[in-house]
Formats: sequence, structure tokens, C-alpha cells
Amino acid sequence: MKTLNEICTEYQNIVYDLEEALTGGNFRRHREPGKPKIILERPSHSAAIERPHQVKTQTGEGQSLAVPPASAERASGSRRAFTGGSFLSAAANPAAALEALAEEVRGCSLCPLCEKRKQAVPGVGVINPLVMVIGEAPGAEEDQKGEPFVGPAGRYLDKWLEAVGLSRHVNAYIANIVKCRPPENRDPAPEEAAACMPYLLRQTQIIRPKTVLAAGRVAAQNLLQTGEGIGRLRGQSGTWQGLPFLATYHPSAVLRDPQLRRPVWDDMKKLKGLIDAQDAGQADAGAAPDF
Ligand code: URA
Repeated sequence: MKTLNEICTEYQNIVYDLEEALTGGNFRRHREPGKPKIILERPSHSAAIERPHQVKTQTGEGQSLAVPPASAERASGSRRAFTGGSFLSAAANPAAALEALAEEVRGCSLCPLCEKRKQAVPGVGVINPLVMVIGEAPGAEEDQKGEPFVGPAGRYLDKWLEAVGLSRHVNAYIANIVKCRPPENRDPAPEEAAACMPYLLRQTQIIRPKTVLAAGRVAAQNLLQTGEGIGRLRGQSGTWQGLPFLATYHPSAVLRDPQLRRPVWDDMKKLKGLIDAQDAGQADAGAAPDF
């Protein structure tokens, strides 16, 4: 008869195989040697990135934004995390699932950015945030501290959030397209962004934000899989991964060019509107009050 430990190990290997198959092999975890592997035939995430579905979503101002294929959603992998000897459902224990994912990110070596980093920068904030802000990549200070947006751009971003009642400590979550600092703060390469995307998708699934805000060109282009400039992408509401989505300028760009402050303020008010609309929708869906 099998011991409980053996049964758990088998179950763990099945989950790892499925995660690997569903994420195009982006998991590198120990599995019992000599056990047959489960093979699922599906395109890898990077293949999906190279041939994005041009599913169009109508935006508030009558233009269209391209959204990534549904397969990217599936590429976000399992909702379960194996941590400290027990399986944790992301829905049942999102904080533990998020921490398990952060540990994976800290040990990641899926792309060459890992070679020069001081540390990876998984993300910061709360579960079930009103907004998930997605930036580009960690800079020097983030690389040093392991937290996104802690330099001058981060302090400025915090001000924008505060202006509409949001904070990384209370009701927001902040992450980046890539979790490791690109040398000389260059743009992340498409392969680096593609390698890191499953982490972002899994974070999104775990924290379940009400809305998503892309901060800057690199974030907006990678999320929407478009080469369109940020001047055209910003301020148009659409959806990403089924969530209300808005793009705005990057805080560093606004620090360089104060003329961008006005459009950013317009975008932040629009974001607040998206959040409020979500709240109103939920209130409408609730049971009628007893009066
Ligand atoms: N810029 C970003 O896009 N992300 C950070 O974390 C810091 C600066």
C-alpha cells in the first residue's frame, strides 16, 4: 500500500506536469525522476505572443484596442500552489498563493535578465485591489529593494493614486511587465516580456483586481500586443483578461514632460470612474434591500 507521502508526491508531480504543459514549460520545479510525463499538445505562450489574436474591443472613444488571445489566459497556469507541504487553492488562500508565486519569481532564471539582477521584484500591494497597476520593469532602486516603483517615478505614481483614493498599502497592487531590471534600464526585449508574462497572468488571477492600469508605453504595448504609441493608447478604456483596462503615461515620462500632467489627471479620473462603475454593478447585482 502507498504511504500518504507517496500519494502526495504523485499528486504534486501531476500538478507540476499540468502547470508545465499549460504554461509552455515555464515551470522549473523538482519532480520525481523516472515518472512518465503528461504531455498536452498546445502552442506555447511565446507562440501566442508572436501571433496575437486580433480580437478587438470597442473603446470608450470609438477606437479599438487589441487584446491578447484567450490562450494567454490559460497560459497563466494552475490556480494551485504547492507550499510548505500542502496544496493551497489560490481562491482559498490567495495570500499564500501570491507568496508562493513571489518565491518562484525570486528564483526565476527563465531569461537572461536574471544574470544581472540584484533581486527580482515580484510585486506589492493587496489582494482584491481596486486597481492593479502594471509598469514596465524594475529600475536601480527597485532592483536594490525588491519592491516595484520605489524610486522618484514610484513616489510620483503614489501621488497619482492617492489623488483618487488609492494606495499600494490599502487597495492597490503594483507589478511590472518584467520582474528583473534590464541593464541600463533599456526596454525589456520581447522574449523577456514573453517569458515573464505567465507570472503577471498568475498574479492577476490570484489577486483578482477590479481594474487594470497600464503605466506607460511598454506596459500598454505588451498587454495589448500592439505597436501603437502611448499617445493613442492612453485614456481609452477597454478590457484586458476580461478586466476593465486603461492605459496612461509612465510617471517618469510625466516627470520629464509636465505637459503630460493634465492628460494623466484625466486618465486617473477615468480610472476612478471604472472602479466606481464596477462597484455600482456589484451593488445592482446584489439582493434587493429589505425595506
Ligand atoms: N518603472 C517601472 O516601470 N517600474 C518600476 O517598478 C519602477 C520604475
